Amino acid sequence: MAASLQLNARSFTPHHVQSKSSPKIAPKFSSIRCSATTPVRRYTITLLPGDGIGPEVITVAKNVLQLAGSLEGFEFGFKEMPVGGAALDLTGVPLPEETLLAAKQSDAILLGAIGGYKWDTNEKHLKPETGLLQLREALKVFANLRPASVLPQLVDASTLKKEVAEGVDLMVVRELTGGIYFGKPRGFSINENGEEIGFNTEVYATYEIDRIARIAFETARKRRGKLCSVDKANVLEASMLWRKRVTTIASEYPDVELTHMYVDNAAMQLVRNPKQFDTIVTNNIFGDILSDEASMITGSIGMLPSASLGELGPGLFEPIHGSAPDIAGQDKANPLATILSAAMLLKYGLGEEKAARRIETAVLDTLNRGFRTGDIYSEGNKLVGCQEIGQEVVKSIDPKVPIAI
Ligand code: IPM
Ligand code: MG
Repeated sequence: MAASLQLNARSFTPHHVQSKSSPKIAPKFSSIRCSATTPVRRYTITLLPGDGIGPEVITVAKNVLQLAGSLEGFEFGFKEMPVGGAALDLTGVPLPEETLLAAKQSDAILLGAIGGYKWDTNEKHLKPETGLLQLREALKVFANLRPASVLPQLVDASTLKKEVAEGVDLMVVRELTGGIYFGKPRGFSINENGEEIGFNTEVYATYEIDRIARIAFETARKRRGKLCSVDKANVLEASMLWRKRVTTIASEYPDVELTHMYVDNAAMQLVRNPKQFDTIVTNNIFGDILSDEASMITGSIGMLPSASLGELGPGLFEPIHGSAPDIAGQDKANPLATILSAAMLLKYGLGEEKAARRIETAVLDTLNRGFRTGDIYSEGNKLVGCQEIGQEVVKSIDPKVPIAI
């Protein structure tokens, strides 16, 4: 079997995982896999399938998660709740109170995707996307980790030349609860010419920059020790402060090499020579754009997972792809990004590294055995659907390996 994904070996452990020294212990000893004296670790996971291909990829990831957990001697209680368009249809709002409450009360949240044509013209407060933003804000998950590694098995799926894509292994650390996504004032108005205007505010406070910078430095330190901060400090005041604070925080991390890059140049460098990047830290909107760009280096956006973490409380784990309404319900979706998000959930959200490694190794093994969904298909491989590739990942999780407790 191939080695586990790069992101696994060099990632950071957020505060709330470190402080969670003893995982939740279930009051009753109910597992048949453990001896009578060993309490079972039990985690509550809120599943938010959402819209489009969300339900398909979540079903597959849930099975994988359940098996990896049981092989490592722990159990899950899953609670499925509506969010996005599904919630709008059911309750009239994109993030029902019950969904938020369940999410807050769980150990981690796994989300599929949100959005679809049906709700595209809705007013802002009734858009599926608004539900996701409300969820991120309410959970205070300000640090969004988006790893992008080119797997040797998929190097031919990249749109870049093999010599450019091969060996790329980078991490985008995106600020997730500030900037222009949340800044005020915002809205619609009428200008002095009587014309309708729409406006938003890009705003960052020092504490918001400092905390994301520290996470980025910690992340870089556990990778190859290089951090590139991306901004638009030649034009935007918010970026000028960003650069100043990141430079100040750098003095706490003398072992990490810090560089700064303007976002337009970064967008160009990512396709020109992506191997120059190790860890990238950037604001909310630049991170949104650059992580989509980085995903294409790896072959498909259908491969990229993400973890959104705060200082306290459960993390939110989701593939970075959208709801892909054009292929929804056709069993064509690639569930690997969600499966890898489940691995991030185990590692960053629950501190269950061994179970995470089982999943990452199984994904690589499945690819090694030639199974591909349409988005990553190349000649000579076996084209399969969402469910089938999920079943193959389940097969690749080696049940013969003894349970490690
Ligand atoms: C992402 C998505 C979201 C974002 C949308 C769906 C609100 O594009 O997670 O990258 O812009 O953050
Ligand atoms: Mg995006």
